[in-house]
Amino acid sequence: MKKFVFMTIMLTVIGCSSMSMTPVAQSGGMPKDGELDFPKDYTTFPTFLKGIQKPNAVRDLYINSTGAEAHHGKPFANESILVMEIYKAKKGDGEAFEKDSDGHLIKDGLAKVYVMQKGAGWGKHAPEGLQNGDWIYSAFTPNGDRLEVEYAKCRSCHLPLGDAKDYVQRYDEYFEKRVHMH
Ligand code: HEC
Repeated sequence: MKKFVFMTIMLTVIGCSSMSMTPVAQSGGMPKDGELDFPKDYTTFPTFLKGIQKPNAVRDLYINSTGAEAHHGKPFANESILVMEIYKAKKGDGEAFEKDSDGHLIKDGLAKVYVMQKGAGWGKHAPEGLQNGDWIYSAFTPNGDRLEVEYAKCRSCHLPLGDAKDYVQRYDEYFEKRVHMH
């Protein structure tokens, strides 16, 4: 029991000291859904997965360098930022989508940018029953203007992934397919 208490104190101390070294991007306290800063430089982030094929869209995923240091089986660290670009798919002359020689949809303009970012204690402000750990969600236009969306929908669709996958849909693929940086 004593050992357990000691460990807890040690972990708290370690946790706090590493937190003070990496300041939170937002200045005014903890952001809620829709209040994250637009990660302007996200296209320079390591790519997480590229060219995800949806029925009518193509998606590219990016992750910042803090997130890219995650280990399989562990949650992403605080200050991790995940970005999903949603591209329209190109249509041919009719209503059918055009495909390239590999049978993949062709990007036709960036439509939206979805962001998930994590910070210590941020989940406390999430709606009851829809906490996704400490992740907060925001949706933007490609220019970084905020989109009006129902954030409860983001949360309910990512919620089933649970703590085991840290609410990240492509959690496993991230560790299997990402481009290794080191
Ligand atoms: C209907 C389910 C659903 C909803 C609603 C949803 N997502 Fe997702 N999200 C996904 C899936 C599935 C992926 C993985 C990429 C893919 O297959 O399209 C994903 C991936 C992501 C990623 C990349 C990290 C990851 O989890 O793999 C971010 C960031 C993201 N979503 C943000 C959002 C935001 C912000 C909203 C709300 C505006 C939202 N999502 C709403 C299903 C959903």
